[in-house]
Amino acid sequence: MTAPKILVFAGSARAGSLNKQLAKLAAQRIEAQGGQATFVDLKDYPCPLFDGDIEAQGMPENVLRLREILADHQALLIASPEYNGFITPLLKNTLDWLSRPYGGAPGLGLFAGKWAALVAASPGGLGGIRALPIGQQLLANLSLTVLPQPLSLGKANSAFNEAGGLKDETTGQKLDALCKRLVDTLAAHYG
Ligand SMILES: Cc1cc2nc3c(=O)[nH]c(=O)nc-3n(C[C@H](O)[C@H](O)[C@H](O)COP(=O)(O)O)c2cc1C
Repeated sequence: MTAPKILVFAGSARAGSLNKQLAKLAAQRIEAQGGQATFVDLKDYPCPLFDGDIEAQGMPENVLRLREILADHQALLIASPEYNGFITPLLKNTLDWLSRPYGGAPGLGLFAGKWAALVAASPGGLGGIRALPIGQQLLANLSLTVLPQPLSLGKANSAFNEAGGLKDETTGQKLDALCKRLVDTLAAHYG
């Protein structure tokens, strides 16, 4: 059986992003559970704010690159910051571009039949917990099947050890459990 392929990215482009750190750790934990994880930094794929006039002139090059990567994966694991109780504009904009019909493929065609898991990190005590249900709903609207029990990482600026792992064992176990559920679900579905 081929290992399930999971695309991992954060809804933050910031160089020191806590969510990128969490996404990279999740990618490692996915690999440890037998999955194949591809971490993508959205800073490397800048896309304009969605505008139908830009789209009418041709799909931006970075959207096409992201489309190609997404098409090659069976699931997404997204680490989203919380901005004013919501997901970030970067995450929404990226998903909006990827939801568009292109090249004969229908809108949402790239997401159909795929799975998703969501995590959030924040320096605040609640760990971005308000953005998680909103992110889950958006992913479901895109026709992804979203795993329950997303992980929120509070006080994230002091949560990581020097090796990039989580200092708190219980939180590390929760992240492992989520990654394992995703890998096992994909294996059962596609294996
Ligand atoms: C516009 C804006 C709104 C924010 N709103 C929230 C919020 O509602 N809840 C929260 O926990 N943190 C909030 N923050 C703080 C972010 O959680 C913090 O900047 C975090 O480090 C961003 O994620 P990143 O480290 O992955 O870039 C906000 C930050 C910005 C810039």
